[in-house]
Amino acid sequence: GNKAHLVPLPWSFSGAFDSLDHASVRRGFEVYKQVCAACHSLKFVSYRHLIGVTHTEAEIKDIASQDLIQDGPDDKGEMFKRPGKLTDYLPPPYPNDKAAKDANQGALPPDLSLITLGREDGCNYIFNLLTGYQDPPAGVKGEPNLHYNPYFSGGWIAMAKQLYDDQIEYSDGTKATESQLAKDITEFLKWTAEREHDDRKRLALKAVLIFVPLVFITYHWKRVKWATLK
Ligand code: HEM
Repeated sequence: GNKAHLVPLPWSFSGAFDSLDHASVRRGFEVYKQVCAACHSLKFVSYRHLIGVTHTEAEIKDIASQDLIQDGPDDKGEMFKRPGKLTDYLPPPYPNDKAAKDANQGALPPDLSLITLGREDGCNYIFNLLTGYQDPPAGVKGEPNLHYNPYFSGGWIAMAKQLYDDQIEYSDGTKATESQLAKDITEFLKWTAEREHDDRKRLALKAVLIFVPLVFITYHWKRVKWATLK
């Protein structure tokens, strides 16, 4: 459609045998929690999924216990909130779509769990979108409550620019430039959409290591067995 050309990034996971950059995935979770979680849910991600990916089990237990999770009904039929535990899913920012729209001038912030798969060239798209806010071209009139971004289809998006240099402090001391924040949140969202990514590629590598020799062994065996008949 009516969109600017995406600038491709040299992602760590591009090659058939490349894995996610897990330090980046961890920082990306910090960006999600401190920035995006105010408006976007991640309804397919549970705290348990993060163990061994972004944090240790003890760290995740601690993170979960600091979030409040909607639960109920209790014995008296009432809903209540309680601290999170490992099997809970990350809490959504709004109770339902209506509340989400009411808080965002009628626009619905989509769930981000599968967004890297849901948009064409998803990772490059999200990075370019997040870093692509700019002034509209001369002579183009602004739209009320919308923000100009040439990477968004139609050019006007309800989400304001979200990422700025030094907006958060990373726990690993990495400097949080705008592009670093965008790269890390994208790497994290790549993981939320393809949690089996590294295992899948590791298995593919094992399959190649096993089946390639098998082909040679089978071929050689056939030659040996048929040798007398030639
Ligand atoms: C839409 C990412 C923070 C409000 C989107 C989209 C993405 C995204 C990928 C979909 C664009 C599309 O449809 O192609 C992010 C990320 C964030 C973030 C990674 C954190 C770094 C926020 C925050 C708010 C917000 C904090 C609210 C203050 C919205 C809204 C839309 C949207 C209202 C719908 C836009 C439209 O349809 O015009 N966001 N977002 N986002 N986001 Fe965010």
